Formats: sequence, C-alpha cells, structure tokens
Amino acid sequence: MNITLRENIDWVGAVDWNIRDFHSYNTERGTSYNAYLIRDEKTALIDAVKAPFAKELLAKAAALCDLDKVDYVVCNHAELDHAGALPEVLEAMPNATLVCDKKCANELAAHFDTSGWKIQEVADGDSLSLGRRTLRFFTSPMVHWPESMFTYVPEEKLLFSMDAFGQHYACGLRFDDETDMAVVMQEAKTYYANIGMPYAKPVMQCIEKLSGVEVEMIAPSHGVIWRSHLAEIMSAYKDWAAHRARPKVLVIYDTMWESTEAMARAIFEGAARPGVEASMIHVRRSNLTKIATEVLDAAAVAVGSPTLNRRMMPMVAATLCYLDGLRPLGKAAAAFGSYGWGRGGPEDIDKALREMQWDVVRKPLRANWRPTPETLDECRLLGRELADRALSRLPLE
Ligand code: FEO
Repeated sequence: MNITLRENIDWVGAVDWNIRDFHSYNTERGTSYNAYLIRDEKTALIDAVKAPFAKELLAKAAALCDLDKVDYVVCNHAELDHAGALPEVLEAMPNATLVCDKKCANELAAHFDTSGWKIQEVADGDSLSLGRRTLRFFTSPMVHWPESMFTYVPEEKLLFSMDAFGQHYACGLRFDDETDMAVVMQEAKTYYANIGMPYAKPVMQCIEKLSGVEVEMIAPSHGVIWRSHLAEIMSAYKDWAAHRARPKVLVIYDTMWESTEAMARAIFEGAARPGVEASMIHVRRSNLTKIATEVLDAAAVAVGSPTLNRRMMPMVAATLCYLDGLRPLGKAAAAFGSYGWGRGGPEDIDKALREMQWDVVRKPLRANWRPTPETLDECRLLGRELADRALSRLPLE
C-alpha cells in the first residue's frame, strides 16, 4: 500500500517496531525512519533510513520507480538513523547525485568512503528544480546536528523537517489525523525533551526562519506526518523552545530506608494544591527519558537522595548528569535527603543544581538518620515555597 503525501510524493521509510533503546533514549513505542520519494521530471529521494532498513526503503522505492532513474538523494541530516543506509541506497541508485550541505558532506566522509559518490553541495536558500516542483533548502544548524537542513517544496507547501517535529512512535498509520493525538503530542514532547532541549535557541531561530514560509504539511524523519495539527505542534515547539513552564512541581528522589522518601512525600504534600500539578518520581522506578520529559515544562524541582558512600545515590547522579546535558532552564529548585554518619548526598545535589544555574531556593534540607516531625514540617514548607514559585514563574524570554 502506498502512503501518498501529495500526487507522486510518497513515504518510502521503515517502521522500527521493536527498538526500545535509542542510544539510551527509552523508545517505549518504537520509532520510524521516514524517507520520501518525489517523482517529477526528475526523481528525488528525501533522506534515507537506518542501515538495517535499507532493503525495505529500496523495495518501496522500486515499486514506484526504476531505481536507475533516481536523480537525487537529499541528505538533510548525517546522523546514522537516517544516513546509515546511504552506501547501500546510492549503490542501488547509480545515477543519483547526493545533495547536502558542506558540513554534511564532511560528516558523511568521516563515516563512509564517499570518494565515489557524486555530491552536490547546497547552501541556505538554494533551490533545485525537479520540473513541476522545486526543492528549496533551509539550513537548520544544531537542529539536531551542525549540518542539519530542512527541504521545502513550495509548490506543495510541504516541509521535510528531518528530526524537528518528529516523534519516536512506531505506527501503521502515517498522518497525525489518523492517530491518537494525545499519544502523538506526548511522543513529540518526549522527543523534544530528550533530543531538542539542548538546542532551544537554534530551534527558535528555525521557527522564526519558517515564519515567512507557507506550510500545509510537515513531514519529519520520525513518527507521523503533520497535515491537520500543524498549529498545535508549532505552538508546542514555541513553548518548549522558550522554556515556558507550567505550574508544576516535581519531587525527584531515590531512597534507601525510606527516610528520604518520607521527606519527598512531605515536600509533595506541601506543594499539592489546586492549580499546581505536583508529582513524585522515584528515579529507580522511572527512567531518564521520562524524567527529562517531566522536567521540560516543570516550574520547580526538588531533588533528593540519601548519602551513600559519601555521595548522592548513583541514579540521582545519572539523572542530574543527563539533565545538565539537556540544559533545561529557569527552574526553582532545592536539594534534600538523609544522612547517617557522614554527609554528602544532599550536598552533591545542591552543587549540581547550582551548576545548572537553577534558582536554588534554600540550602540543602537534611535529616540525620530519620526525619523528625520538625524536619517533615520543614519539608512541607519547602513544598509550599516551590508551589508558590511555580505559580508565579514567568517564562524565560
Ligand atoms: Fe533522527 Fe538526529 O537523528
């Protein structure tokens, strides 16, 4: 069955139903690697797939055209989930010229022997005529890698956006309006939080660059194609890229003998009130992907750990290390946790929160062995303060 975006523009990608670990991204719903074939006076393949799916792409393309007749293969992004199949694809399409920007050509040469490839380098704003349709290229550096690029077909108001607006979502249906939008938006949010968040500024610059371009359909490299809910995904991206927080307080923690958990619960109790979404996340009962997604739009975050071998517990350290790389900005925050004969856990967290330049509202809240009723009252007060901050927090501009 063909999946047709416009007349003679078809999806020829692959669905990866079983992937659950995408270099540590927990892909609970699998993913897809989207590639598209445009048949005009010239024929162009837009993007490829991950190497193990090359034959699937080639079979889909061969059902639509003679592979010898493919004139161009556009590479919008050199990451191997899209470029991995290029050697096999270009071998099967011997008359195709690879079209990409200069940085992409260099990156591809670092991954593959490209000496026999015909490569046409394009720059921001360049166009390539296919006949009735045109490919126009917009560079989008750091969305997701330095070479990243969008390809736009003005005659169809169709944007191939590679990773941007994508979702790791394996689905037999290819369009947003055919699927459960709550699931699609959740996966788009998870994708942005775990892939796009460090590049908020370039994402915003890209959105601004696109503001003068008429777009009726966005075809990303992962997940479903946006043809009915463009306003929703654009608006969500603007909020995420602006670090716009919701009145939401997270209590992220680990625990050994439930002392730190009792503190976490008291902070949660203090934060919970109408209009504030408060929640607790035990780091070993969740995963980094979900935690980052929750942090994306949280206004306030309390992070707790008991002291283990003079340090915070390892999964708390992993969480803070991961968040530090993703660079969520503008959170009100505080550290808490228990200790026995030696200090270290809450202090480690406090240092990490300050290094992320979060707005740390107080010195670490500690309990020696077990939290006393007074300490639990202090935890409730901290929860209240974080909720107040969450309600008053303005988006960063
Ligand atoms: Fe889907 Fe950055 O690769």
